Amino acid sequence: MRVVIQENYEKMCKWAADYIAARINAHKEDRPFVLGLPTGSSPIGVYRELVRMNKAREVSFANVVTFNMDEYLGLPREHDQSYWYFMHDNLFDHLVDMKPENINILNGMTDDPEAECAAYEAKIASYGGIDLFMGGIGVDGHLAFNEPFTSLSSRTGVRALTTDTRIVNSRFFGNDPEKVPAYALSVGIGTVTDSKEVLVLINGHNKARALAATVQGGVSQQWTCSALQLHPAAIIACDEAACGELTVDAYRYFLDIEKEERL
Ligand code: GLP
Repeated sequence: MRVVIQENYEKMCKWAADYIAARINAHKEDRPFVLGLPTGSSPIGVYRELVRMNKAREVSFANVVTFNMDEYLGLPREHDQSYWYFMHDNLFDHLVDMKPENINILNGMTDDPEAECAAYEAKIASYGGIDLFMGGIGVDGHLAFNEPFTSLSSRTGVRALTTDTRIVNSRFFGNDPEKVPAYALSVGIGTVTDSKEVLVLINGHNKARALAATVQGGVSQQWTCSALQLHPAAIIACDEAACGELTVDAYRYFLDIEKEERL
């Protein structure tokens, strides 16, 4: 696992956007490049930079197919807190060559969630899997909506949100946890770790415990993000603020292996 430590949030986002653009540009196969994407505040700076690069013709999304990680159950697309709305508002509406038919987001208004999730897994498989899955994590280490104690081999399905997550996410729902949907559709930990590469953004002091658990605790379903330790090509992009709970030797080690300039 690589942990790429950047000085601050802006630099972390720039690094991640450069990495994603480089991967897309290096993709020379006929089949599309398949990109997994998250919502949340962490990726906003990455999306801003990708939009800038796309408008400057530094990266094209014409041959990119996207799959989002998750969606609230029961929120219509038009709701300003739906992840469909978020993705269009922060990324898709601003890209000059993204094809709408290449955008995949779980339908939170489905009347058959099981079928919706099974079809999502099948569609990912039909493209030959995900090339690069970008993610973020919650303060409790949840990856997508795979809350603590979700199986590390889980697939796309319905997830109950914990009280903690509803409290944390209530900042987007008038500070009322009751207004945060109780359920979501989410890719599983197994869905994410099946991807060829995984890039997870972890920034800010409030994620310091989660970063330490991700990289130097044991692999445990208590911290579902720790499953990344078993992935052959996982990268954490983080900022200094998130490193506060790493031991000094771990911090030095990760800096050391990044000394060579590489993407
Ligand atoms: C939500 C999403 C996660 C996201 C997390 C962290 O719960 N389901 O996919 O990673 O929030 O969000 P933020 O980046 O705002 O801290």
